[in-house]
Amino acid sequence: MLYRTLIIFLLCLPANSRNLQAINNEYIRSIKPLIKENCLSCHGGFQLDTWYRDLPLIKMYINGHITDAKESLNMENDIPFKGRGIQSDIFWSIIASIKKERMPPQPFSLVHGDIKLSPKDRDTIIKWFSEKRRVLLEQDL
Ligand code: HEC
Repeated sequence: MLYRTLIIFLLCLPANSRNLQAINNEYIRSIKPLIKENCLSCHGGFQLDTWYRDLPLIKMYINGHITDAKESLNMENDIPFKGRGIQSDIFWSIIASIKKERMPPQPFSLVHGDIKLSPKDRDTIIKWFSEKRRVLLEQDL
């Protein structure tokens, strides 16, 4: 029994990681540019390349938030993201944070108004993550 479970586990493992790999490839091609612009300055290793980045208050605000942000969601090394729960949970929290307009955080949008997510970009992100979440759920990922 244990032996069989082990075999099944070994057979499933590469399939699962192949799936994640495929989703990640698509993520990098299609949706990452939007995420990079709007999320990765806090949730990943990306530095905003703008004149106001180095203004004291903004720098303090962003630096102060990066530790918190990365603790709850780290997107630095693409998919699989690191966060609470399995990948489909993490995808769900991303969808929810955008639906509720919790992310990107308000004060950030104020100083960063030019990248406040447009309704079109919000829809694109929500749609992409919802679609892929369905695939993940089928695989228990
Ligand atoms: C200015 C920094 C900043 C930016 C930009 C930012 N976040 Fe966050 N994010 C945080 C912080 C800080 C937390 C942890 C505290 C909290 O939940 O408010 C967080 C938490 C989260 C969480 C954890 C779950 C939750 O809702 O509490 C998710 C998911 C998330 N962010 C998604 C995103 C997405 C998607 C974007 C881009 C559209 C984004 N964030 C942009 C700072 C940021």
